[in-house]
Amino acid sequence: MAPKVVRWGILATGGIAQTFTKDLLVDPATRGVHEIKHTVVAAASSSSASRAQEFLKSVNAPSSAVAYGSYKELVQNKDVDIVYVATPHSHHYQNVMLCLDAGKNVLCEKAFTVNAAQAKKLIETAREKNLFLMEAVWTRYFPISIYVRDAITSGRLGTVTRVYSDNSLAAEPEKAWPGGKSRMVAPDLAGGALLDMGIYSLTWVFQTLYTTQSPQHRKPPRVVSTMQRYPETGVDEMTTMLLTFPRDAAAGGDMHATATTSFRVGNDVDGAGTCGPAVRIQGTLGEMQVWPPIYRPTRTRLILKDGTIEDKNWPQPGPGKGSGWYNGFGGSVNQEGEGHGMFWEADEAALALVEGRKEGKFESLDESLVIMELMDEVRRQNGLVYPEKIETTDRVEL
Ligand SMILES: NC(=O)c1ccc[n+]([C@@H]2O[C@H](COP(=O)([O-])OP(=O)(O)OC[C@H]3O[C@@H](n4cnc5c(N)ncnc54)[C@H](OP(=O)(O)O)[C@@H]3O)[C@@H](O)[C@H]2O)c1
Repeated sequence: MAPKVVRWGILATGGIAQTFTKDLLVDPATRGVHEIKHTVVAAASSSSASRAQEFLKSVNAPSSAVAYGSYKELVQNKDVDIVYVATPHSHHYQNVMLCLDAGKNVLCEKAFTVNAAQAKKLIETAREKNLFLMEAVWTRYFPISIYVRDAITSGRLGTVTRVYSDNSLAAEPEKAWPGGKSRMVAPDLAGGALLDMGIYSLTWVFQTLYTTQSPQHRKPPRVVSTMQRYPETGVDEMTTMLLTFPRDAAAGGDMHATATTSFRVGNDVDGAGTCGPAVRIQGTLGEMQVWPPIYRPTRTRLILKDGTIEDKNWPQPGPGKGSGWYNGFGGSVNQEGEGHGMFWEADEAALALVEGRKEGKFESLDESLVIMELMDEVRRQNGLVYPEKIETTDRVEL
């Protein structure tokens, strides 16, 4: 059967929008996906149509794709099946609402929203309107994540009881984002380590200790946390969380996790993995290790008590060497022909549309909400509040 074509609209033209859209336009057959194909029919920039036009050119979009100078025009385009929202997290609530109001399905970047109240409202609205909505936690859709979750659910690790997970940068924020205006540190763009990077530490904790439980056994964790503030802007530059996931005694009792994030220090100081794994998943029969960066991991080690050591590499597929095609994010460029890995989540969103599903299969909307509630609690414990205009569930112009 011919693949079904899913038509995307891209909302925002920044760094990740570019990486995502380039991956999106790689033929899915290069990764063994034959049911769907993706195309880009439109992109919008909040600043100008010419910026959107430049964006479409830079990602090599079809020449028929339309460029808009406002997000409102994009969501009115009848040819758009699904919108990818790639604005700063401060803007996700308002931008996703705009899409849902116009009857569009949505894939929204992480962190889903600024707080759980906003996430809840988006989820309710999508369900009322019978639209697809998914938080773009791309890592969950990687084959490496499927392998790790399978190692847990198949019982290879025994009873899994503890996880350590870190996603940190090891950079000087003053030098990386001078002036405090970057979305990474600006309070009015919901800056800070927790929402931007801690979400990945929590992703590994949740997808190993929570997603792997049968839905009726999933219980939200308790959390105790501490935060260090970034002096220049007051957002968090380092956050440490201790989590307890309740589990019946007969199933092995409670599970513990340590989830950490920091701008300034990290456990991949040379960017080559020399510091060791950044995720360690421990069960009664052994340990699974995942090397950093944990948002785009490519290396695992399984160590079992019976002497098994299983090392695996998980390179990202793509058009391959000799293609002259490159992707990457920010200043880093992947090897020629190597995808970034954002196509896996795009494939899942497209397959869901074709199959009539309304959520992503490896992170339900309820789970996205539980994680937002947890991050709310961590912020509450440490008094981190963002400006009202980005915490509100009212419709406002940002
Ligand atoms: N999955 C991943 O690996 C990954 C990686 C990086 C970032 N992200 C997420 O993606 C989102 C965007 O991050 P990014 O790194 O792409 O950011 P970015 O480079 O700063 O781009 C954000 C874009 O949002 C639009 N925008 C609208 N209002 C804005 C405002 N007031 N201030 C700044 N930008 C505004 C702008 O596009 P227009 O001018 O065209 O409207 C801007 O180019 C964030 O939520 C982030 O957490 C995910």
